[in-house]
Amino acid sequence: MPKAPPLRLGVNVDHVATLRNARGGARPDPVRAALTAIEAGADGITAHLREDRRHIRDTDMERLKAEIGKPLNFEMAATEDMLRISLATRPHAVCLVPERREELTTEGGLDVVGQHNALAPFIARLNDAGIRVSLFISADPQQIEMAARLRAPVIEIHTGGWCDALVDGHAAKAEAEWQRIVEGAKLAHAAGLEVHAGHGLDYQTAETIAALPELAELNIGYFMMGEALFVGLGETVRSMRAAMDRGRQRGQGKA
Ligand code: PXP
Repeated sequence: MPKAPPLRLGVNVDHVATLRNARGGARPDPVRAALTAIEAGADGITAHLREDRRHIRDTDMERLKAEIGKPLNFEMAATEDMLRISLATRPHAVCLVPERREELTTEGGLDVVGQHNALAPFIARLNDAGIRVSLFISADPQQIEMAARLRAPVIEIHTGGWCDALVDGHAAKAEAEWQRIVEGAKLAHAAGLEVHAGHGLDYQTAETIAALPELAELNIGYFMMGEALFVGLGETVRSMRAAMDRGRQRGQGKA
């Protein structure tokens, strides 16, 4: 079994901006949420600048980059406009995600097999700028192999299908999705990719997936912001960190 690297927690603050935008004012402030999350143990902050700016806005990204003092993971669609903004913002990382205007959230992984010609120069320009590129893909062997060929240093495995199946009580589907994630993480690690995961994770699924030694980072947002309403964001981050640590220790046979 490979020795597991420390597992980083990236906190996604998109939905603090969703709440702010519901009233059109300045509160709650996603940057304040980011600073609170970091103080409580988050290793980095993730935010998605969508084409329709439905939650995070350009000024939020600028302020996050200027104020948080920890790695900023800039999620975006692979468009020329976003490339220009990300190159100007110079975040630590860019995570390329598929985007459809009518979707509620990022529904599927990026089709890097179908879009490799368009993505290759895009990834190269981000690599050249020293911005770590991550591709948000499903744990599909063909997608993983193409991600490695495209010279993206990182993939983020889409965990939404697994998490949804668990919440909906579809045990067989959840097990199949889980096996796909386990195999996908192994394949990606063997191909030299750094492996992240995210979408739909809660305390239980984060603890389970933290046991996979190939994983280096989890990106989690929606569940944590919901929990924060009841116990506060700092407490939520600490509980998530503890869940991840329990899972990792179990994966290393120490619990
Ligand atoms: N990772 C990526 C690439 C995402 O697009 C999202 C959702 O914005 C997340 C992680 C976080 O998902 P959730 O908000 O469901 O925890």
